[in-house]
Amino acid sequence: MDESKAWSKEEICTHLGDDYDRYLGAIVPPIFQNTLFTRKNMDHGYTYTRVANPTTEIAEKKIAALEGAEQARCFSSGMAAITAALMSVMEKDCHIICPLNVYPPTKSFLDTYMKKFGVETTFVSGESTDELEAAIRPNTKAIYLETPLSNVFTLQDLRAIAAIAKAKGIITIVDNTCATPLFQNPIAYGIDIVVHSATKYMGGHSDILAGVMVGSSERMEQVTHRERGMFGATMDPHQSWLLIRGLRTLPLRMRQHQESGLRLAEFLEAHPLVERVLYPGLPSHPQYELGRSQMSGYSGLISFVPRGNQEQIIAFIKGLELFEEGPSWGGFESLINSPGLWIDEETSKQTGMPQRLIRISIGLEHPDSLMNDLDRSLAGMKRN
Ligand SMILES: Cc1ncc(COP(=O)(O)O)c(C=O)c1O
Repeated sequence: MDESKAWSKEEICTHLGDDYDRYLGAIVPPIFQNTLFTRKNMDHGYTYTRVANPTTEIAEKKIAALEGAEQARCFSSGMAAITAALMSVMEKDCHIICPLNVYPPTKSFLDTYMKKFGVETTFVSGESTDELEAAIRPNTKAIYLETPLSNVFTLQDLRAIAAIAKAKGIITIVDNTCATPLFQNPIAYGIDIVVHSATKYMGGHSDILAGVMVGSSERMEQVTHRERGMFGATMDPHQSWLLIRGLRTLPLRMRQHQESGLRLAEFLEAHPLVERVLYPGLPSHPQYELGRSQMSGYSGLISFVPRGNQEQIIAFIKGLELFEEGPSWGGFESLINSPGLWIDEETSKQTGMPQRLIRISIGLEHPDSLMNDLDRSLAGMKRN
């Protein structure tokens, strides 16, 4: 297979990394479920699965190509990839800048855990590049971004932030989980490192925990031996094999998530029992134009604020038949979660997270069925 040709994203997902001659014509590559590679009679370059494994390398090849990056490294979870990426750039007593509404364990890692090592983090809204630039200090080592933010769906301007950071020698890291590499490629805008929770859309079947980091060959080779090799949170070969299987249908699934997501966001926006919808694909989103300039599509994640009190909203959630309740997302199944339901006015003001905010992850069910389910349960809320 000619890996140097220009591959479409669909071809990357279906075929890049296939090597029929090497694997006896098997249409699906084998799982190298072994820890050790002996080399008495062969110099194949492999030694130990914590460092490199041929099955995992196929997933890495696909994800690096999807992101337009030189290389990728797979980890045992998204958090393993995120903490490894941050550890690879942080130094004792350094300073980091990060959006306040970032995935909460990422915030806790910086805010509480890394504090032990003298690392200070300034949390910003992320919506204003000026605010972010003003937060830069002489010891700022990294700007960590997540766009769109997976609850409030505000965006950060990747091109502008990468340019500011580059001029000051600051490393930029982006959590690109929500957009997926199909709809946003931060490396093309000058971002240094991209991380993903591949547990979400990339895996797509709610059956694996997985993470990935992409960037330059030099950085990825260092990470192989340092933050991945030493901390040891490498992806297991069976997990890699399931990730490859998920990736094969990623473009197809994302097209459906996007189509259903947009239809349901429009439906909710027009609904009399909905106060507000947060979805970057809607022209009413305050950063719609920025989204169009740096993303080529939107996922099936939508937040909205129903017109009801806490009790009525709980009844609405419990009344749904097709949406299961839970915090994850990106799988085949539709889910509902309530990150803003219990926050008070003060917290809402501080974080920018609207009170009573509900998030739904649109799965692969028919969008008409999902719409009917939401409509029926919203109507029930009114009667309560
Ligand atoms: C935006 C985002 N990044 C990272 C993670 C962490 O991923 P994982 O659960 O695979 O460790 C999550 C998990 O929900 C997430 O939503």
